[in-house]
Amino acid sequence: MANLAKGLRAARGRFITFEGGEGAGKSTQIKLLAERLNASKIPAITTREPGGSPGAEIVRHLLLSGLAKALGAEAESLLFAAARDDHVTTVIKPALEQGKWVLCDRFTDSTRVYQGELGHVDPQLIRAMERVTIGNLKPDLTFILDVPVAVGLKRAIERRGTATADRFEGEGIEFHEKLRNAYLGIAANEPKRCVLIDANADTETVASRIWTALRDHLFSAAIAGDNSKT
Ligand code: TYD
Repeated sequence: MANLAKGLRAARGRFITFEGGEGAGKSTQIKLLAERLNASKIPAITTREPGGSPGAEIVRHLLLSGLAKALGAEAESLLFAAARDDHVTTVIKPALEQGKWVLCDRFTDSTRVYQGELGHVDPQLIRAMERVTIGNLKPDLTFILDVPVAVGLKRAIERRGTATADRFEGEGIEFHEKLRNAYLGIAANEPKRCVLIDANADTETVASRIWTALRDHLFSAAIAGDNSKT
């Protein structure tokens, strides 16, 4: 493990995104994975979208407060893209170039699902915005955390306490069912990049599912890469 960590540190970092509906437990799992990677001497940072950089956090406020809702789904998409552009340029790319692993809470799949599938924004516009904002920076691995809608909403309500629902938490059950199906579709269409994680379990169980999948996907690829050089 120590040699592997050394080899991985020397190279560009890995870019791992976490996706899923409300209350899937992404933020807890990202934190746990970062701790585990750092404990294994693989430097990892956590970040989130929308937001993650000072400029993008301003746009986050505009989007999640619902202030931008009246502009329509297309304009909201452009705001998500503007935030992503800043985040990628100022945080994600520099960290990867320094050899850090970047764990990001939501990324382009969220735009495809929330604005594309649910907001009915033209897929061509979604693709064009991806080209502009991320270029060839595709995640090395995407975990899609899946929970039944009722479970996710219950967790989200508990987490929120007395605070008001944000722009998307406030949508109805049907919205969240469509959201879940859209994510299941992405996982089925891109099995090399995406790993579907059954997140309807306790925190430790989900964390160990994620760690096993990470090892299978990224560490075995790194080992295969190392072997091919010798
Ligand atoms: P957040 O409070 O981070 O929620 P969660 O814990 O569910 O990740 O809110 C982010 C919200 O923004 C979430 O409802 C999904 C939405 N979103 C989009 O609609 N499009 C996007 O491109 C991104 C990144 C997020």
